[in-house]
Amino acid sequence: MASSAQESRSIDHFFSAPSGRTDRWRDLHALARSWAKGDAARGAVEAALAELGAIEEFHAFPGPELLAALRERMQSEDANGFLALAKRISLAAITSNYKHDPKEWQAVDLALSDPTDMLPSSLGEGQAYRPYFEMLVVTPAPAGRWPHMVAEFRRLRRLEDAFIYEAVLAGSLEDAICAAVLNPDIAAVAIYEGFALRSRHDAPVLRAVLAAQQPLLDKADEADLALKLAAGLKAIRPELDIYLLSDRRVEKLAGDPRASMIRRVMYQIEEPLELHLSVLEGIKARFDTPFFDNLKLYAQRPIGTFHALPIARGKSVFRSPWIRDMGQFYGINLFLAESSATTGGLDSLLEPTGTIKRAQEMAARAFGADHVFFVTNGTSTSNKMVLQALIAPGDIVILDRNCHKSHHYGLVLSGAQPFYVEAFPMTEFSMYGAVPLRTIKKALLDLQAEGRLDRVKMVDLTNCTFDGHIYNTRRVMEECLAIKPDLIFLWDEAWFGFARWSPFLRPRTAMGAAADIEAWTQDPDAVTQYERQRKELGANPSIDKLLDTRLVPDPRAVRLRVYQTNSTHKSMSAIRQGSMVLVRDVDFHKVEAQFHEAVFTHASTSPNQQLIASLDVARRQMELEGYGLVMNAIEVALDIRREVASHPLISKYFSIVGADGMVPKQYRMSGFVDFLAPGTRWDDQLRSMREDEFCLDPTRMTLVCGTAGFDGTGFKGLLASQYNIQVNKTSRNSVLLQSNINNTRSDVALLISVLLKISNEIEARLKQGGEAERKAFAARVHSLMNDVPDLPNFSRFHEAFRTDAGDTTPEGDIRTAFFSAYAEEKCEYLPIDSPECDRRIDKGPALISANFVIPYPPGFPILVPGQVVTHETITFMRKLDVKEIHGYEKARGLKLLKPDALAEKKGRSVENGRKRARAA
Ligand SMILES: Cc1ncc(COP(=O)(O)O)c(C=O)c1O
Repeated sequence: MASSAQESRSIDHFFSAPSGRTDRWRDLHALARSWAKGDAARGAVEAALAELGAIEEFHAFPGPELLAALRERMQSEDANGFLALAKRISLAAITSNYKHDPKEWQAVDLALSDPTDMLPSSLGEGQAYRPYFEMLVVTPAPAGRWPHMVAEFRRLRRLEDAFIYEAVLAGSLEDAICAAVLNPDIAAVAIYEGFALRSRHDAPVLRAVLAAQQPLLDKADEADLALKLAAGLKAIRPELDIYLLSDRRVEKLAGDPRASMIRRVMYQIEEPLELHLSVLEGIKARFDTPFFDNLKLYAQRPIGTFHALPIARGKSVFRSPWIRDMGQFYGINLFLAESSATTGGLDSLLEPTGTIKRAQEMAARAFGADHVFFVTNGTSTSNKMVLQALIAPGDIVILDRNCHKSHHYGLVLSGAQPFYVEAFPMTEFSMYGAVPLRTIKKALLDLQAEGRLDRVKMVDLTNCTFDGHIYNTRRVMEECLAIKPDLIFLWDEAWFGFARWSPFLRPRTAMGAAADIEAWTQDPDAVTQYERQRKELGANPSIDKLLDTRLVPDPRAVRLRVYQTNSTHKSMSAIRQGSMVLVRDVDFHKVEAQFHEAVFTHASTSPNQQLIASLDVARRQMELEGYGLVMNAIEVALDIRREVASHPLISKYFSIVGADGMVPKQYRMSGFVDFLAPGTRWDDQLRSMREDEFCLDPTRMTLVCGTAGFDGTGFKGLLASQYNIQVNKTSRNSVLLQSNINNTRSDVALLISVLLKISNEIEARLKQGGEAERKAFAARVHSLMNDVPDLPNFSRFHEAFRTDAGDTTPEGDIRTAFFSAYAEEKCEYLPIDSPECDRRIDKGPALISANFVIPYPPGFPILVPGQVVTHETITFMRKLDVKEIHGYEKARGLKLLKPDALAEKKGRSVENGRKRARAA
């Protein structure tokens, strides 16, 4: 039992090392209680404290004094004294109270006495709230001097400081890396040259932490230890400010391009105050939120408005006898901060030159992009903006048919031709996975064979998918660029914006992969790799050969053009509809003007000020605490997975689909099974993240409820109406649970208790209902779990919409089809359960969809305008038992384009083509 707990803990901590610490404190507290009661031996407490001690070194709190006091109580067999102190420390560590209460740092329970000089006396009390962080100091100084150094940093504090920090000391590169991984409060690092390479500890937990970081550290193949450490830290946590204190010629070092990741290089003997001020300034540079800060100032100014927006300033609200409650509900600031003006420092979202521009630049820095555009109408709009900006009528876009509808509509608007590619189906859950790379490459190679590669502008994919499939973004882009070096990539990361803040997920984000590809193109070895492969492939490699080969692009030819859209409101602290477009495009200067046109087309001219401010604030939060928050979200998800799987009763009716259930074996080349599968180790997880074609975002959990006799929609309704639990999307037999930066362990407890209650109710019902009830239940489960309709693939565009398409490739003119439906006289309706429907499919004339038809769930278009309807589609629709189908009126039937009207259209376009040819 102990070993399996230990095992699951190790793999959890691969993702969520910081939260493992609170578990250990909780465990120590429990052991101390047993020791005090006489139920446990001192040895167990001693072992737990020793393991904890190694981790605690990387945190300012409780610090050496409190730890020494704990050890002393243990050695003097003072079990009750040990328990009292362990309890207090664990509580303070879990609640973070120590950040603002100096008393928590005292060893003895002298709650009433004044803190001594050694305590962090300027924490919180009696002063305005000051955010707290920790600074990692990597030093060659002997450990005996460290308490003195910590005290020195405390002595530098001034009342004027906007933030407060504690120093955490480390003596080696390995310890520094462990500290950055384990301690999310670390926000700045001061590296004094001369430190050691190896850790002075040999705790297994630290070895494991280091092993997990190895690939990131390997990237930093830097002979110079200080620069290697800086590069390693940045690879793990790019937001950290790094200061290098050197006794070398600092002027020279500062000019060294390898030192570009260092915020400031200083001479070691320099005034420590200089470091202190620089560190605070560095935090301030992340803390500043130019638009939000200015909006707060604006709200305080007495302003008379002779403009639109009567609610601005709130007078008509608060004075009204009828709508006063609106003012009371939202509070005065909402109204004071409302304005139609773009003056007074508020800036214009459409043409930003001031605070919005600065806020966007800061977001670009934080998210690893060159440019960021704030969008206040959701990622639905962000997608349309990007598509309109980069795609012209007739261009071909390779697109996941299962993507969000904004992409399909974006193509209707831009007039591009979608080349639909299919994700692998997950029929048993009536959902789709992600698009295999082979399918994407084949699309490109087929277009190349048709001589139409020049028409392909973009590959447009969703990462991660709604259900959590994460692409190998780097590999996809590299192999596509090997076929067409100037392809543009649009990665819809609506759900994945937070991933930037996890060192494990970051390489699989659009921006993370783009950074890695860019670095690779600058590596002299890249050309050698490309040339070697070119030789191996020979002059005219077959399509099959190219499909079977992991293609290397020509680094000299690559034009890296990567766009990411993310719903900042879905995974970070933006208000609903807050979204961002991230740009990393070497040719952006060529499309910037059209990008602005796209913004003008889609953005509201009255964007919501609070939304813009929340985008600014969301960036601030992620830059200062995103690392810890994301780790926590992952921890919560792993907790839920573990509890559901291990509870004897819950697991009888419910399960969360593991990576093995979500990703077919052929895409898990590493052999990875699941996060919590027995025997799974950190390196398995790592290998999966690095190598597998798809891996699973642990925060997205497909909870199967069909085995409990519930369909997804019904179960979602039950959770919401009876238990106040909201879940994400549903499928025929599952619901999607999602953890985010807002979740706590209490949420996990609530969910688990509800699942247990429901499981108990099922048990009781089955027991009381006798054989008839059991049979009915089994039949329902069987129907939900086995009687699942096949998912229909995209059939084809009708020939009338393929006048500009390749002979063998499936792209089509979706825009003309879409607008054809505007002429009502050219449309017909046909109920899907009519015999005429089957007859027409068999014998013709063809049924051609006039609309997008999108059932919820599963939420992907089973028909798009201009698509020929097949038996597969109709069978799927007949089997669907959902109520919400966008684009389909049950009473009238499918809206179709009349074939004779299309025949006319086709004739005309052929004739036009002939005319054009004659004219030429
Ligand atoms: C993959 C994907 N992209 C885009 C969107 C649209 O995002 P928003 O709600 O921010 O408009 C969604 C919404 O669910 C989505 O799932």
